Amino acid sequence: MPFPFDISATDGRARTGLLRTPRGDIRTPAFMPVGTAATVKALTVGQVEQTGADILLGNTYHLMLRPGPERMERLGGLHRFMRWDKPILTDSGGFQVMSLSGISKLTEEAVTFSSHVDGSKHVLTPERSIEIQADRLGSDIVMQLDECVAWPAEESRAREGMELSARWAKRSKAAFGSRDAQALFGIQQGSTFEHLRRESSDRLQDIGFDGYAIGGLAVGEGHAAMCEVLDYAPEMLPADRPRYLMGVGKPVDLVEAVWRGVDMFDCVLPTRAGRHGQAWTWAGPINLKNARFAEDEEPLDPEVPCPASQDYSKAYLHHLVRTDEILGKVLLSWHNIAFFQALTAAMRAAIAEGRFEQFRRDFHARHVSNGR
Ligand code: GUN
Repeated sequence: MPFPFDISATDGRARTGLLRTPRGDIRTPAFMPVGTAATVKALTVGQVEQTGADILLGNTYHLMLRPGPERMERLGGLHRFMRWDKPILTDSGGFQVMSLSGISKLTEEAVTFSSHVDGSKHVLTPERSIEIQADRLGSDIVMQLDECVAWPAEESRAREGMELSARWAKRSKAAFGSRDAQALFGIQQGSTFEHLRRESSDRLQDIGFDGYAIGGLAVGEGHAAMCEVLDYAPEMLPADRPRYLMGVGKPVDLVEAVWRGVDMFDCVLPTRAGRHGQAWTWAGPINLKNARFAEDEEPLDPEVPCPASQDYSKAYLHHLVRTDEILGKVLLSWHNIAFFQALTAAMRAAIAEGRFEQFRRDFHARHVSNGR
């Protein structure tokens, strides 16, 4: 069995531990910065490492278009290409096809799509996705190909997507086989229907995966509806394997998901919103574009170990954002990733010390009451 998952403490439904991989341990709860196109936008891998990230996420969809899987293999795989030697998890491509590409055709066999770059036609089967992730990119954690149904969905449509995802899970597992140094995660679907999520998890566990993701959330249903699904979905998945909530989210989403038993996250939010002047702090989110920061000489958040917060004033960051300077995007992307890492580190400590309930209460009082 690859990748031992050592849970060192639980507190209610929350857990903390280490997912052990040949490229290093992943401390959970873990936040994975998104490195879509072989880069965490605006940051060097050294800067990302300084924030405390143990693992990055890469995207099959983007990398199969540019630079292309075969070229990537010739260049020694994704780790060597981008000079990141810690673990990488890659998403399988189906979700990005739906959200980014032109016309896409979905059949039992494959998803067919036109590139958002040049309109060229591409086909992704479960088998090809696994081959690209595991063999061409050399990903450490490979995701099955799935279908994420748009929200809101009728029960019949949600069932269709869940069932196709379950059949693709089986094909993904067969294509992956068994490997010593790489792991394969299945993805639970079923939209906001408890019985569909149950059936999805049962089918995934019959196949058997190294970890289990919760897909199909953060697609417009909102925080409250997502929490309702998380009241039951994580506990349907094996307690002894990592649980990964895909594409989530804001700091408050992470806290509420960890409270309900989730171990891993990824989201473009800290980097994407950072490039537009948004910053998360322990006191809540702020937008540095706001005129009220024009002469604010206080630091962004003195508790966050990054240059934006340690070396500069909010007035300076406000100026960089208003003048659309590249440095503003670098500093705020760095800050936000550092904040998300500080948040997961604080949750790990709180769970280990049996005070996660108090941590959650304090977080809501200090961070959420100032807007999400
Ligand atoms: N990223 C966010 N949500 C999803 C999902 O449901 N499936 C996949 N593959 N990636 C995601």
